[in-house]
Amino acid sequence: MEIITDLKEAKELRKMFRNDGQKISLVPTMGKLHYGHLNIVKNALKYGKVFVSIYVNPLQFGPSEDFNNYPRDIEGDIEKLRQLNVDCVYMPDETITKNNKTFITDDFFSNKLCGLYRPGHFQGVLTIVMKLLSIVQPDFAFFGLKDYQQYILIKKMAEDFFMDVKIMPVPIVREECGLAMSSRNLYFNVTEKEKACNLYKILNNTRLLFKKGKTLSENLKHFAIKELIDKNFTVEYVEIMDKELIDRKKTAETGDIILSAVKLAGVRLIDNIFLE
Ligand code: PAF
Repeated sequence: MEIITDLKEAKELRKMFRNDGQKISLVPTMGKLHYGHLNIVKNALKYGKVFVSIYVNPLQFGPSEDFNNYPRDIEGDIEKLRQLNVDCVYMPDETITKNNKTFITDDFFSNKLCGLYRPGHFQGVLTIVMKLLSIVQPDFAFFGLKDYQQYILIKKMAEDFFMDVKIMPVPIVREECGLAMSSRNLYFNVTEKEKACNLYKILNNTRLLFKKGKTLSENLKHFAIKELIDKNFTVEYVEIMDKELIDRKKTAETGDIILSAVKLAGVRLIDNIFLE
């Protein structure tokens, strides 16, 4: 497994794989890898040579967010990736974003959901993802669906810039209690983590209400928000949207998605579930 921090070396390796006629997959991460990430990597390994990037991207954190405290574990990450037989771990140094003057900004999808609560976040995400895609030039790039809005934004960016990369979604991996896996779950103590599991349970109960015939979004949202508040979450939003995130739905339909962001014990959690 190659471990690379230098941009030129990353490009050289990519060219070498290409000259060998290999397909290339990229899995961008911010490290502190958990089973959700490793599941994404396992998917990517089916599609050719795999680059996993690890970079805690300062551009996507707001001034009062957790950039400094974001969990980091380079040694542990490298070991996990070695065991999976990844071809390259690319860990760019901070020059990849330092003094950056050019940004990718979306003018539609960023203005809703998480974008309303994290100004500048998606600009930071799109900018680093564009940089990584330019360096690695993969055939496939993989993103977990817990960050559903991020996935939609990246897919749209790749389409709008006619990029030769297929953006590959990977389903959410959940802990036994339903909590979506996330590096930020490490911030919780045992009791808080038990409480955090209620987010998925409530989204799932909302989905079951829909299944029983309640289709008015306002009612479904009202149910979810009340339950979340009862379980001590601070609710940023619960929305029901079409799967491309174009519109809020008045009447929910099969295939739509419920998306939510909440805070618990100062930790921000996002999750989503498809209506079926
Ligand atoms: O989902 C993440 O971990 C990050 O937003 C990403 C895509 C690696 C960009 O920094």
